[in-house]
Amino acid sequence: MRRAVPLTVAEAERSAAEVGFTQSCIPEVGRLLSAIAATKPAGVIAESGTGTGVGTAWLHNGLGLDARLVTVERDPDRAARAAALFADDPRVTVLTGDWRLLEAHAPFDVFFCDGGGKRDDPERVVNLLAPGGVLIMDDFTPSTGWPPLFEGKVDALRSHYLGHPRLMATEVLTTATSVAIVAARVSW
Ligand SMILES: C[S@@+](CC[C@H](N)C(=O)[O-])C[C@H]1O[C@@H](n2cnc3c(N)ncnc32)[C@H](O)[C@@H]1O
Repeated sequence: MRRAVPLTVAEAERSAAEVGFTQSCIPEVGRLLSAIAATKPAGVIAESGTGTGVGTAWLHNGLGLDARLVTVERDPDRAARAAALFADDPRVTVLTGDWRLLEAHAPFDVFFCDGGGKRDDPERVVNLLAPGGVLIMDDFTPSTGWPPLFEGKVDALRSHYLGHPRLMATEVLTTATSVAIVAARVSW
């Protein structure tokens, strides 16, 4: 039996199924998103790559009354579906376009970087974090030892984030076959 998910998550999952979108975050990652969002009750919470709003809904589940949530999606249909889900909550802004639109809302206390930025501009991703801000990136493959490997080769992207001088970064096992990076931007 599946542990119940929040209603908005279920609605966003249904919306994803309707359009055959299969890249929504899994509940294991979602619960991590809710927990981390809840640590910043008056924070600015951001997401790149909204999809149909599943990750957004998990972040929203932990969103403080004085917090704000901004998410961006370049696919107009997906963005519209997500925007409709949160239309009644003034704390939530769904942007349509490139992930760099987020910059106008930075710095972020929590940033789920899930579509744009993670691979193409890692330095900009770090720069968008407030001191103490928490970065979350999912969909990595577990690897023991250092440096981390992916398909037998050094995973340069993961090494970059895990070894970044302005991040305190670690990996969290989300399922037996997947990890998320969770990193806090240092304040010095
Ligand atoms: C992994 S899916 C996002 C899933 C969603 N965050 C969730 O947890 O349910 C990645 C999404 O990022 C979007 N995307 C990819 N590159 C982007 C970019 N440069 N700017 C904005 N959105 C982008 C894709 O269209 C896709 O919908």
